[in-house]
Amino acid sequence: MIPADENKQLMEVGPGTLMGDLMRRYWQPVAAVAELDDNPVKNIRLMGEDLVMYKDKSGTYGLIDLHCPHRRADMSYGILEECGLRCNYHGWFFDETGTCTEQPFEGVAYPEANFKEKTPIKAYKVEARAGMLWAYMGPSPAPLVPDWDVFSDRGYKQIVFTEIPCNWFQCQENSIDPVHLEWLHGRWSYHLTNGASREPKPHIKVGFGEFEHGLSYHRVSEGGDEESEQWTIGRVCLWPNALYTGHFEWRVPIDDETTLSVAWLIDPVPGDAPFEQERIPYWTSPLVDEKTGRWIDTHVMNQDYIAWVGQNALADRTQEHLGGSDAGIIMMRRRMMEEAHIVADGGEPKAIIRDPEKNKQIFLPRQGRNRANAAADGSSLFAGKDGKAPRTTLLAMQPKEVLDEMDKIWAEHGSTASKK
Ligand code: FES
Ligand SMILES: [Fe+2]
Repeated sequence: MIPADENKQLMEVGPGTLMGDLMRRYWQPVAAVAELDDNPVKNIRLMGEDLVMYKDKSGTYGLIDLHCPHRRADMSYGILEECGLRCNYHGWFFDETGTCTEQPFEGVAYPEANFKEKTPIKAYKVEARAGMLWAYMGPSPAPLVPDWDVFSDRGYKQIVFTEIPCNWFQCQENSIDPVHLEWLHGRWSYHLTNGASREPKPHIKVGFGEFEHGLSYHRVSEGGDEESEQWTIGRVCLWPNALYTGHFEWRVPIDDETTLSVAWLIDPVPGDAPFEQERIPYWTSPLVDEKTGRWIDTHVMNQDYIAWVGQNALADRTQEHLGGSDAGIIMMRRRMMEEAHIVADGGEPKAIIRDPEKNKQIFLPRQGRNRANAAADGSSLFAGKDGKAPRTTLLAMQPKEVLDEMDKIWAEHGSTASKK
């Protein structure tokens, strides 16, 4: 339980708010590279700001205000050109730095006024990495977009978006919550499937830690011990707004009451022949089962969404009762507020990467690393059934095009499941 004013502070993401200013210090994944290749203009709402992302004809990405500084027309209907985006209303033209490079009428009739120098458009930085497009809305100089080690792993990657109607912070609290694995995913699935899924073991001990790039949780279940990776390695609650378990789940604040879930998934491709993925596909996973009108509960992240949204759009932490399992939640709230105050006082917060030498395949701890490596040696652990690629158990409605492409790759590279 925390006071109402602190609860509000934790959830606000608009410009000039305590947490909004902290979150603006970090790059956020907001779109897929392949998405802008398919359609080079995309509306983006990020931390309460309405923006347009584009890829111009020279291949440069921009992220600018949705509204033109002239008379506020919608830039997402603008005309893409070689070096920027032109407003369709009166032709003012802007580049990715926000500079207004042309005002057709003013430039012809009143060139000496040089009015365009006075009318930049708000612009933020964009960078591509790991098949995603990242946005940075903080002060210059921008830090580096983290290069996590798994980005370079050999495997089939995919990006999945879901828009969640609740505040990002309650989503991220889930990243430091070990006991929900046993109940929300284990016990509830066991109940939903009438005992067809594996029955979870009760937790008997949980622990929490902090490292350079985030927090971590550790657990021991009945029959287990402190020698197991669940305890020695645990799971990474990546600072400031992701979960990392071998795949990533970012909880990107769209505004105070909406979050973009961005999942970055990787499946090791069987065999050891070279594998390069030319295009990382993206798709949107739905929340609601169209047949029943109820929320989808069959997949792991969908179950998480039900828990998060069930806390209401803005979780009321003045009404909660935290127990021993919530020590990580308490730690995360405290650390977030501490780092937000560091920013408010003019300092640099946690987990900012500026040294290019250090930003090379940065190691992140994960359980099962040895199993993942074994997949490259022909292990069947990551092959699907009947010679097909594995289906994700994380998110509902994985598209047929993605599965067809994966099956083809698994067939070409030899799915070991059929050989064993
Ligand atoms: S409103 Fe954009 S050029 Fe006039
Ligand atoms: Fe979960």
